[in-house]
Amino acid sequence: MSIFELIKTNDVLKIAIINGPNLNLLGKREVEIYGTQSFEAYFKTLCTKFPNIELSYYQSNVEGELINKLHDIGFSYDGIIINAGAYTHTSIAIADAIAGIKTPVIEVHISNVFSREDYRHISYLGKHCKGSISGFGLKGYEMAIESFL
Ligand code: DQA
Repeated sequence: MSIFELIKTNDVLKIAIINGPNLNLLGKREVEIYGTQSFEAYFKTLCTKFPNIELSYYQSNVEGELINKLHDIGFSYDGIIINAGAYTHTSIAIADAIAGIKTPVIEVHISNVFSREDYRHISYLGKHCKGSISGFGLKGYEMAIESFL
């Protein structure tokens, strides 16, 4: 690889989106809350919208796998956008993983968690995140990407 290619590679912003449990069901799940679009379809439009960013997407329903992913990318990526689903409200382990990595993390929720059940008002992750976005639907992910630019 030439020095010019190296410089070019290093210039590309690397941002990962990590979705937690049940978010694989987007488009089918509680559509009145989460909408009718699948995340895969939305991710394609995001990639088109931000052609100069290296965007990646990972989803798991398993808490430990989400933690492993944060460890894997959390020292090399420029930004991580996480929607940890219900783990947001329960997982000290994911909160510790976010606290332990170097890459800045933004928390996104599709629904407005503050207008829902009381147990959704607590986020263990928020304290360790650069910021939180809640209630703007899938657009929240786009807003999070823009905040990294
Ligand atoms: C969610 C909100 C959580 O309370 C819920 O458990 C989810 C999705 C959201 O994106 O609005 O699974 O994170």
